[in-house]
Amino acid sequence: MKLGKISNSAFYVMVCLTILSFMSCSSDDDNNSLSGAVAPVAQEASDIALTSFRANWNNVFRASEYALDVSTNSGFSSFVEGFDNLSINQLSQSVTGLNSNTTYYYRVRAVVGGVISGNSNTISVETNTEFPDDVTLKSATENNFFVGVAVSEARTNISSYDEIYTREFSSITAENDMKMASIFTGIDNTGAIIYDWSKVDALVDYAETNNLNVHGHTLIWHRSLPQALENFSGTDQEFEDLIEQYITAVLTRYQGRINSWDVVNEAIDDDPNIQWRDTVFLQRMGEDYVEKCFAFARAADPNVKLFYNDYNMTFDGTKRGKVLVMVDDLLVNDLIDGVGYQMHIDYNFPSREQIQEATDEIVAKDVLVHFAELDVKVNAANDLTELTEERSQAQRQRVREVVEIFNAIPQNKKYAITVWGLKDDDTWLIPENNGRPEWPLLFDASFNKKDAYQGFLEGL
Ligand code: G3I
Repeated sequence: MKLGKISNSAFYVMVCLTILSFMSCSSDDDNNSLSGAVAPVAQEASDIALTSFRANWNNVFRASEYALDVSTNSGFSSFVEGFDNLSINQLSQSVTGLNSNTTYYYRVRAVVGGVISGNSNTISVETNTEFPDDVTLKSATENNFFVGVAVSEARTNISSYDEIYTREFSSITAENDMKMASIFTGIDNTGAIIYDWSKVDALVDYAETNNLNVHGHTLIWHRSLPQALENFSGTDQEFEDLIEQYITAVLTRYQGRINSWDVVNEAIDDDPNIQWRDTVFLQRMGEDYVEKCFAFARAADPNVKLFYNDYNMTFDGTKRGKVLVMVDDLLVNDLIDGVGYQMHIDYNFPSREQIQEATDEIVAKDVLVHFAELDVKVNAANDLTELTEERSQAQRQRVREVVEIFNAIPQNKKYAITVWGLKDDDTWLIPENNGRPEWPLLFDASFNKKDAYQGFLEGL
């Protein structure tokens, strides 16, 4: 249609709207600028969720755009970041990144012919508090990926832990009970390894009773060295034979019951110029010791999934590069099935972009991805004596981001996200940092769901 050629009915509508605008303008001087631009009428919010809602308003004739303010106070003395006079050219706007259980206020103005109207009426909206109790981490991730928790065998016998382990999680990993130093208790005088299977047996039984996946952690780790290996006086070949004997015994015993194992943990050095961490395994078995361990594992049980697991993978690109080269080498002989990125992160570090980039690089390999050992520090700077609302919400956002990034991985590569402990006061980070207060997990010391827990669900 050419401009200027207006049908009778369109002309009639325009005249009516002009008259209406004029009437509205002259009858509502609170809401309109003196210049005569008509203020919109803000309407009730829709799509209200935990951290977002949609703000709505009516059309103002000839408005080229609208300006939206969102605030936590009805006097609009401050604004939600990004929602201070936000310019929008439609009649609604999704307001995201909010806190749950919080009252927000919004108002809009119209821009007509370059003139800005006065404020609309103010709408208040309360974001939701939390997901309903029948939504659990387990139910929300069913048929998608495992959501795991680091457990101890002792805690499976405590009802408050047991109740949450079985209600919320679909996978368990022993925080310590399946490490070499826990299982390999000595060498007898025939040269055979003495094993203590008691905790592993109990955990595997527990998992079977409760229909939980088991991710084994970890066969070989320099920080969990049995005394007998530290002091081992035999030859290098005898040392290697013991390692083969150990890996074979563990994998054979739990064949079909433990689904996956971290075969080697943290073997890559942090120094950019050094490939392998200097450990007794490197010294005794040589530079191909990682490959040897994976080969022993594959031979012992061809069906168990074999993982490599390491830290700082989300932000140390050099270290990650070394790990990825190792993964390529292991893939040549089909010796590896998955990689664990330990997610010991901070509420403000690394960035979402760094985590995404690191994830993209591992997704490009033919392996399963495990976001292992998730905990989110909020007090690395030691500036808190209690978990503040603001820091708790920041932690929630962080967990949400991590879960969003993981959830976006192609389905056939998603293995698990494993949280490194159940409740805040059990975290390894407190003893690790000489008692510095920390609240890195999804449940508080009283077993209550934290904001971070809600963040996990929000990320799905
Ligand atoms: O079992 C003893 C107990 O008898 C004693 O009373 C207590 C006193 O300190 O110590 C207990 O052992 C501690 C054990 O955790 C159980 O709490 C060890 O000293 C302590 O070294 C051990 O720390 C574990 C650490 O690995 C070393 O194995 C942490 O719980 C565990 O979270 C941590 O996990 C590692 C991952 O396996 C690999 N990636 C890094 C991550 C953090 O270091």
